[in-house]
Amino acid sequence: MTNDKTLRIGLIGTGFMARAHTNAYKRVGDFFPDLEWKPRLKAVCARTPEKVRAFADQWGYESVETDWRTLAARADIDAVDICAPNDTHAEIALAAIAAGKMVLCEKPLARTVAEGAPMVEAVEEAGVKNTVWYNYRRVPSVTLAKQVIDSGKLGQIFHYRANFLQDWTISPDLPQGGEALWRLDVNAAGSGVTGDLLAHCIDTAMWLNGGIADVSAVTETFIKERVHQETGKVQAVGIDDACIFHCHFDNGSLGVFEATRYARGQKAGYTFEINGQHASIRWDLHDQNRLGFFDHGDDSIVRGWRSIHVSDGDQPYIDRWWVPGLCLGYEHTFVHHMADFLKSLETGEPCSPTFREALETQKVCEAVLDSAASRSWKETGVNW
Ligand SMILES: NC(=O)c1ccc[n+]([C@@H]2O[C@H](COP(=O)([O-])OP(=O)(O)OC[C@H]3O[C@@H](n4cnc5c(N)ncnc54)[C@H](O)[C@@H]3O)[C@@H](O)[C@H]2O)c1
Repeated sequence: MTNDKTLRIGLIGTGFMARAHTNAYKRVGDFFPDLEWKPRLKAVCARTPEKVRAFADQWGYESVETDWRTLAARADIDAVDICAPNDTHAEIALAAIAAGKMVLCEKPLARTVAEGAPMVEAVEEAGVKNTVWYNYRRVPSVTLAKQVIDSGKLGQIFHYRANFLQDWTISPDLPQGGEALWRLDVNAAGSGVTGDLLAHCIDTAMWLNGGIADVSAVTETFIKERVHQETGKVQAVGIDDACIFHCHFDNGSLGVFEATRYARGQKAGYTFEINGQHASIRWDLHDQNRLGFFDHGDDSIVRGWRSIHVSDGDQPYIDRWWVPGLCLGYEHTFVHHMADFLKSLETGEPCSPTFREALETQKVCEAVLDSAASRSWKETGVNW
């Protein structure tokens, strides 16, 4: 590690998340100038030389690699950022940790609990900084929801319900596997909507409302066979296309969750609602600058749902951006996460969610899939 507080990033992948994270690395120093640590785009890695070179040129990386093993071993890299499909997370993280690197890993932590547990063990034994990019916690309106709940305004919480709805896999002609379609291949993804979409909902839910104790789930695979992009053959589809589960939280509240890629018209329909004794909260990713809030303590003649436009300097992260009333977007969540990661290097505190927290989310995902397969309730074993 250099001693000038430069964090030399080695990024793996050149897809969707690689762009979102790189944008965050480039923006964070401008909007959080007080942070001692600054990221530097040292190297990017992908398997195709022309693709990785083009990405490096476009986004400003100093060098390229085509094998992540070489990248993870490089002495001039401080932090490895994993933006590749789920089946690569464990192997890359373990190699990076063994080389003494910090690891920032995309979600889900791994495909299974068995794959994720050694990652947690390794990162804790090595004592290296780590985080998992469950970015929705850092939408300012969601961070505000956390502050409202922690202030006690809701009182006892009775209900938590969340949806994450999409519609992009309805066509039976869509292949599975390979570049851009690895999410449909169970070997690459680990699961379907459970690990891809519900993992986000579960992370947010446990952060806001505490641990999930047990679950009862149903899953469905609507299209049973698809051509695999890599083999050219029609193969069985192993992922869950849709999943619905209900659960008990440790605090006694009930949860209900649904995710699907078969909700025609829905693109990234992530919503949640929380109902407490005194007040309720609701949130919609499609309207992410707002937080819905209902307070039963309001004077009855004006009582009703208010729609808080989360754009005031007193609200989370907002003072770093524009003037009150102006909106933020999806990309800012990653800038906020990076800012918190850099801050954690100053303070020595963990940057949440850590690998350990992400493993708890993985336990819920696995219990959900087990419950659906066995048509029975499953304890999650979560320790939140
Ligand atoms: N936090 C979020 O909201 C969010 C959103 C999307 C994806 N993700 C997660 O990010 C990860 C990447 O997803 P994505 O949407 O960016 O995928 P993507 O398909 O857009 O990009 C994946 C990249 O990984 C590269 N890659 C694949 N195997 C590799 C290997 N062995 N070595 C080096 N590079 C390799 C591909 O070439 C591609 O550039 C996944 O784990 C996914 O679950 C998280």
